[in-house]
Amino acid sequence: SKLSTGGGNPRDFIATMKETKKRIVIFYGSQTGTAEEYAIRLAKEAKSKFGLASLVRDPEECDFENLSELPEDSCVFFVMATYGEGEPTDNAVQLCQNLSDDSFEFTNGEHKLSGLKYVVFGLGNKTYEHYNLISRNVDRDLQKMGAVRIGERGEGDDDKSMEEDYLEWKDGMWEAFAKAMNVEEGQGGDSPDFAVTEVDDHPPEKVYLGELSARALTRTKGIHDAKNPYPAPIALAKELFEGKADRNCVHIELSTEGSGITYQHGDHVGVWPSNADVEVDRLLCALGLWDKKDTVINIESLDPALAKVPFPVPTTYGTVLRHYIDISALTGRQILGTLSKFAPTPEAETKLKNLNTNKELYQSVVAHGCMKLGEVLQYAAGNDIFAKPTKENTTAWSIPFDIIVSSIPRLQPRYYSISSSPKLYPNSIHVTAVVLKYESEQADTVSPRWVYGVGSNFLLNLKYATNNEAVPLISDTANPEPASVSYPSYAIEGPRGAYKQGTILKAPIHVRRSTFRLPTNPKSPIIMIGPGTGVAPFRGFVQERVAMARRTIEKNGPDGLADWGTLRLYFGCRRSDQDYLYKNEWSEYAKELHGKFIMRNAFSREPPYKPDGSKIYVQDLIWEDQEHIADAILNGKGYVYICGDAKSMSKAVEETLCKILGEAKGGSAEVEGAAELKLLKERNRLLLDVWS
Ligand code: 2AM
Repeated sequence: SKLSTGGGNPRDFIATMKETKKRIVIFYGSQTGTAEEYAIRLAKEAKSKFGLASLVRDPEECDFENLSELPEDSCVFFVMATYGEGEPTDNAVQLCQNLSDDSFEFTNGEHKLSGLKYVVFGLGNKTYEHYNLISRNVDRDLQKMGAVRIGERGEGDDDKSMEEDYLEWKDGMWEAFAKAMNVEEGQGGDSPDFAVTEVDDHPPEKVYLGELSARALTRTKGIHDAKNPYPAPIALAKELFEGKADRNCVHIELSTEGSGITYQHGDHVGVWPSNADVEVDRLLCALGLWDKKDTVINIESLDPALAKVPFPVPTTYGTVLRHYIDISALTGRQILGTLSKFAPTPEAETKLKNLNTNKELYQSVVAHGCMKLGEVLQYAAGNDIFAKPTKENTTAWSIPFDIIVSSIPRLQPRYYSISSSPKLYPNSIHVTAVVLKYESEQADTVSPRWVYGVGSNFLLNLKYATNNEAVPLISDTANPEPASVSYPSYAIEGPRGAYKQGTILKAPIHVRRSTFRLPTNPKSPIIMIGPGTGVAPFRGFVQERVAMARRTIEKNGPDGLADWGTLRLYFGCRRSDQDYLYKNEWSEYAKELHGKFIMRNAFSREPPYKPDGSKIYVQDLIWEDQEHIADAILNGKGYVYICGDAKSMSKAVEETLCKILGEAKGGSAEVEGAAELKLLKERNRLLLDVWS
């Protein structure tokens, strides 16, 4: 979609605003697409409330030199995610630098940004330190230069309440906006973002059936990145848990041979999943599209500056639901109001309206029941959520498809810490993924159900298909479902082979660079803490050092390793006979590293327990090894890496490190220990790769 810029410089957003008579420009600092979605939602609300069209822009594609020349009746929105350890998203690095740089020349020199009107909404995660740091910085920098904020700064917490935080913030902001911009509500009205048309004479080879880029369809070569993922053949897939484990952990090796893709230890790989069959079928039925699932459709944006068609077209109804939009996510509260207008019965309409307006009801039914959109529609219409969805048992709603496209976000890649080193595996990327499955709560009339993570179950399914294993039935007794229910299955044999080409199975991937890396010099002592799948990157780290050791030994013999620092790995899992990941590999690595690799394991659900009977975790082993650890950090210029659960584990480990360092410094954990830890972080010698 081309923006009309009158042939001018597309980076000059102010010129574009003037030409297209827009009074709002919305910038989004987005890494995985969430901030972009909120930016688009704000643009849509400005249009439906006030009839004001907005320009929604990626800051990376704009120049900010003339920001001060924004016309007086206009305003700028900043929707900014804070990423990792308080960093801006890649596409906002330049913008943040410009705003914080005192010497940066906004055209209007000395006045800087006086009078500039702006709105800020930040996206962050409370389990990380530096909550919403980027939006706070943007706000601070703009105020410093004399700009005037409209309303309060909004802050959303991705850990718990992003949607509710947004909903609670936006009404007050729009009120302030109306005053500041001198506009009144009721000027707009709902106008569709997209036009969906069914086409019956389209050449089949030009229809997108799950391909993620134009290149993928035409099979032309190009660089593989987030905009053009690479369908990587699965070279090996196996289960890592053994014995009686009632959980799964998949090890998958993705071949990158001939793709031009390179990676480093500690990088992440984005895997592009599809939705499970049952959810695709459920929504096809609920939308009355079951018989039309293969109908070819074209989708056009009615306002390309505001909403781009988020996936390649022409495509089919079935493909959109299976590959392109996130129908497996928890249904948001706001969309229910829109959809209630298309209810099949007055009762269903009332149910959705109540869920939309009553926050507590929404929480107890939709949120605690973990209901996906198809399930909410079935629930509201009184259908049986547990039955295999069919046309017969599912009420069809007359929801226009353009509303589905504009209100359900695009299906995003799932990121995993790569568990291999390119020095040992130059042609493959290894993924270690524990399969997410949990039980929902009872929600009104709906009994608890199993809820399955989209990305990890997709990988599990690819593992079954790769090894010609049947998708098993769920048979554990704790399961409330009948034993005839199987794990969700995924269509892997699309008409053009979305995931299967000939006999080869593929998964679309791209690599995301990280700074989670070993120092190049092997002399520094290394401390790695990674319980559960948090061990993934450390398998890559250890392999990296094994490769280096082989070269050194080849030249100088084992004595070549004499001045190397020790690599210490703290791993934890439930039981040594169930979820001990890569159990047989570690001793091999240890042999090759000639005493320079030490692994300590905390098996939490087998003896020994602590004297009071409680579990032993990685932080307890670290505490036991306090002398070594203090020495490595304080005297050896050592590096510490933590990977895994952000919520409790990494916090507990950091607290233990504070205690150790505080004691070693002859002070307290809270003062001297915390100061040492802060210093370590600033010097990039304490690095985190954690998730919640
Ligand atoms: P648990 O499940 O028996 O409580 C990998 O998940 C390992 O991390 C398991 O042994 C798990 O133990 C353990 N674990 C759970 N909570 C933890 C915490 N707060 N700190 C460290 N390890 C934890």
